[in-house]
Amino acid sequence: MSYITSKALDETGYVVLDDHDQAADPQEWLDLEYVDWKSSGDTRFAPLTSAFGEMECDGFWNHTPPRTDKDGVWVEANAAKAPVLRARAEEPGTNIGRCRVIELKADTYPTALYNLHQDDNNRLNPDGTGWIVRAFFNLSDDPDSYLILREDRFDPETEVRISLPAGRQVIVDTQRFWHAVWHQGSSPRYCLIASWESGPALDAYIEKYHGDPRFPSAPLDPAFVEESQADVRHRLAERAATVAAQGRAARAASQESAQSEN
Ligand SMILES: [Fe+2]
Repeated sequence: MSYITSKALDETGYVVLDDHDQAADPQEWLDLEYVDWKSSGDTRFAPLTSAFGEMECDGFWNHTPPRTDKDGVWVEANAAKAPVLRARAEEPGTNIGRCRVIELKADTYPTALYNLHQDDNNRLNPDGTGWIVRAFFNLSDDPDSYLILREDRFDPETEVRISLPAGRQVIVDTQRFWHAVWHQGSSPRYCLIASWESGPALDAYIEKYHGDPRFPSAPLDPAFVEESQADVRHRLAERAATVAAQGRAARAASQESAQSEN
């Protein structure tokens, strides 16, 4: 047995769809209720679905009973204010797990690299069912911001930068790619994110909107990339040293308390 995947994502692991006419839609994301939820940057989230329809953003596996990122329950207070966003999430007709709007404040390229992570969407996902991937629909107009994808976290050669004007629509296997957003701008970036189950319905949807697995990566000065990579290596080394020092302090404290109990 193995997971059902979408053929459209086989080639590169991501596709960029036709741009959506975002200007034609109401700015529903400005009316939603956001909750503090830190994820790869200075963020808040407005849940449209959650594990049980509550106004919260935790992974479905952190609930009782724990389950995978499928069968999200609409959070009525937010979903009622965002019928267009809900319709966009429902359009492929595939299973929806977590679905929410992210609000991200501006960051820098090195900070985005530091925040690169892989998602855990398929935790507890039963073998033989559809692999969970993520849709990112940019709502605000952020043409100078980029979704950064890397096959290898530490190798800039594997990096793809997808610009994020209003209406940009990207589907990514976020458990495969290291990813984060570099947002440049004085206002926050808003993006609809949905966990979707791979399979024929998703493939048909990607085909309808001409999913492009070779969308051009935005250019960036190689010297700036290298300088930023060095900055990240330095930050990660500092963090590792801090964690190691905390570990040594904790061990010393536990030895001390063991000795004092003797
Ligand atoms: Fe992620």
